[in-house]
Amino acid sequence: MSLSPQTHAAAAEIIARYPAGRSRSALLPLLHLVQAEQNCVTTEGIEFCAEQLGLTAAEVGAVATFYTMYKRHPVGEYLVSVCTNLSCALLGGDDVYDRLKKHLGIGHNETTPDGQITLEHAECLAACDYAPVLTVNYEFYDQVDPDDAQAVVEGLQAGQRPAPTRGGPLGSFAEVSRQLAGYADPRPEGVAGPGVGEPSVAGLLVAEAAGWTAEQAPAPLVSAAPPAGDESKGS
Ligand code: FES
Repeated sequence: MSLSPQTHAAAAEIIARYPAGRSRSALLPLLHLVQAEQNCVTTEGIEFCAEQLGLTAAEVGAVATFYTMYKRHPVGEYLVSVCTNLSCALLGGDDVYDRLKKHLGIGHNETTPDGQITLEHAECLAACDYAPVLTVNYEFYDQVDPDDAQAVVEGLQAGQRPAPTRGGPLGSFAEVSRQLAGYADPRPEGVAGPGVGEPSVAGLLVAEAAGWTAEQAPAPLVSAAPPAGDESKGS
């Protein structure tokens, strides 16, 4: 299966965003772009990126296999990621993962036979203040217990898209991959939804209640001109 003319055109648009001679900087969005079409980064996708950016397939492959957001096997319409890192593990993340594993009958990096749901246990999802968390296509479901998590997945299995706790509404893995490539969510409601929640500002609220204030931040550093005759320090 060759990549579509639309992907070729989108790749050209993405590369044009970068200064001349620095097209290799477009590699990360391009990998998301090919993933949007093929639901993973295939060998063909790697070769496509290499060709577009004047890199070797080995260089592209090294990047694609380093970051866990680039998948080497096809992902279902929904990628369910359960954080089992420290904060979430302490608050029941492993129980959440085990429940979904049992409910779906699949393990880490596996996809249900109908191709709908891929399950993975994930490293810290940068939402420790809401632990334990899971994400579906990188949208957050905060402070979940096993029953909450199963309800989210049952909703997906029933053809629904349960509303995430924060941010915009759920999209498919292909839609989200395209956004990660740099294209805006075309849905007007895509940037709606609750933003920061109380756990994120808990420390601020405590400080305000106690009347604590911080010292004024120092002025930002500016690079000083090197002493005359000292060229080793640069500017
Ligand atoms: S440890 Fe789970 S979000 Fe950080």
